[in-house]
Amino acid sequence: MLKLPGLIDPHTHLREPGGTHKEDFDSGTAAALAGGFTIVCGMPNTTPPIVDAASLIIAQRALNAKARCDVGIYLGATPNNIATARTLAGQVSGLKMYLNGTFGTLKMDAMDAIIAHAAAWPADKPLLAHAEQHTCGLAILAAHLAGRSIHICHVSRKEEILLIARAKDKGMQVTCEACPHHMMLSTEDIPRIGTARADVRPVLASPGDVAALREHIHVIDCFASDHAPHLLGEKDGPNPPPGYPGLETALPLYLELVRDGVIDLDGLIARCHTNPRRMFGLPVQEDTWVEVNEDAEWTLRPADTHTRAKWSPWEGARFKGQVARVVLRGVVAFRDGVVLAPPGFGRNVSL
Ligand code: NCD
Ligand code: ZN
Repeated sequence: MLKLPGLIDPHTHLREPGGTHKEDFDSGTAAALAGGFTIVCGMPNTTPPIVDAASLIIAQRALNAKARCDVGIYLGATPNNIATARTLAGQVSGLKMYLNGTFGTLKMDAMDAIIAHAAAWPADKPLLAHAEQHTCGLAILAAHLAGRSIHICHVSRKEEILLIARAKDKGMQVTCEACPHHMMLSTEDIPRIGTARADVRPVLASPGDVAALREHIHVIDCFASDHAPHLLGEKDGPNPPPGYPGLETALPLYLELVRDGVIDLDGLIARCHTNPRRMFGLPVQEDTWVEVNEDAEWTLRPADTHTRAKWSPWEGARFKGQVARVVLRGVVAFRDGVVLAPPGFGRNVSL
């Protein structure tokens, strides 16, 4: 049995408010525990988006009532909430700027708004950016000009990881995350998965991009599933939304990176626990750990998962390494496929 600290996923979509048919704080945190995660941070691209005090309170109340593991909340940046965001900084785990199009309405094009948010957001609070290709350069520059750090979400391309590596070498305060799908899947997997189901933001990149991420794993500060649940009816429908559920497949895929020699076990713990805890100011969880049956082989069957998405780009895949037990604050929260922590057991770790 492999014993790991409670894993942290700093990038998930728990869909509440407004998207609870896809996921809510209850089902999303059940999926988290089943995947070995004891803290997940939720993105603000909900309906309404979490961009002001009124929308934040809706999310906080739902979290308090329904979360089974601990949850952090991010605020979303808009061109109009620069001052408001600052007043709410003490209640969230970071400010997310969407600089490229994706699911939801939160996208900032105006360069002056990006620069103004970077200058106004407290320097000791995380600033996160969905920033691909050119906007990755802009996000790093905006933070650098403000004399503050920036976290680049879900890096997927060689040009981005090389840019971030060079910025770090120059002493710029940049951190980044990578997702299992961008380290394991490429454009070559799209025919097998299906074009609509394989759609995700950032899109799956070339095999060369995947290789570059794995070769520059030392530049990647943390891992994130970007758990983005959508129903199969939506993925297979006329306007398929981008995104995959990821919380229940992330750890076995990270363990595959260990077996492939991309990282060692300490590197996994650093990227799924120590680093995200430090980077996002998350609390120590006492008496909390995850027991993994390292040798157990299993087949991913969507019906067995806890997310409401009930599909996966990895459905039918054979995995090695299975979460056997999760202990959260001394309480058995998950055991042998069953989530035991009740709704309301989870805490808001952004406060
Ligand atoms: C995310 C979603 O569905 O909310 N989709 C995705 O493809 N990753 C949005 C995002 O993280 O960009
Ligand atoms: Zn996301």
